[in-house]
Amino acid sequence: MSYNKDIKKVTTHVLHEMKQRGEKIAMLTAYDFSMGRIIDHAGIDVILVGDSASNVMAGHETTLPITLDQMIYHASSVIRAINRALVVVDLPFGTYQGNSKEALNSSIRIMKESGAHAVKLEGGKEVEESIKRIISAGIPVMGHLGLTPQSIYKFGTYEVRAKEDVEAQKLIDDALILQEAGCFAVVLEKIPAKLAAEVTKSLSIPTIGIGAGGACDGQVLVLHDLLGLTNEFHPRFLRRYLNLYEEITGAVSNYISDVKKKDFPNEKEQY
Ligand code: KIV
Repeated sequence: MSYNKDIKKVTTHVLHEMKQRGEKIAMLTAYDFSMGRIIDHAGIDVILVGDSASNVMAGHETTLPITLDQMIYHASSVIRAINRALVVVDLPFGTYQGNSKEALNSSIRIMKESGAHAVKLEGGKEVEESIKRIISAGIPVMGHLGLTPQSIYKFGTYEVRAKEDVEAQKLIDDALILQEAGCFAVVLEKIPAKLAAEVTKSLSIPTIGIGAGGACDGQVLVLHDLLGLTNEFHPRFLRRYLNLYEEITGAVSNYISDVKKKDFPNEKEQY
């Protein structure tokens, strides 16, 4: 089954309708014009300009160092490529927590300077006030619960979250808080599939899972993982569709070899 060609532009309203009719939502990350153009053309529903750019684009160990200016740069590059997908941009660490006015200002900068369609932020009750304030300015917000990488130093590991009852109950409560606050969707990262199914059933807004099982209303992966550009990351939830690391290494090796043996450029490849 290919993508739904009847949907000319994906909006938050379209995502709500997709959940209602049981049509799964496909979301991927992108951080630049070229990849944004390809995955939009392929029919992806939602593009997340994730703060995972901090890892896969900038080479940091965590998502914490990336700045608001850098996220805006990535987002505006993606936006220039898009015709159909809804583009959601991560609010980076330190630009929304504990200060709803700063959360609003950060979101306004993202929307104004990149042309994105929505923002995403991590957390539940702790960020409720920020979410309400951002939405009051007409900016759609996507939530993110479970493994929230901006809190890695609190968690200590990237292991599955909410396996114990207390944390699972907090996640269920937080999901409802996000829905009540007005979020249009929520990412559920690395939690037991049974819990994700329960949350998905209890919410009227779509859930988008990553390592959260098949019952979620949609799925998201980091594009670099799906394409096999990152070859040292092997979580159980990841399905690789290509091994671009190997493909690119092969192509570059061939190029080096052609240059060294004076095969490139040939007669037809010069003026
Ligand atoms: O930054 C990111 O790529 C994300 C996804 C993993 C959901 O938040």
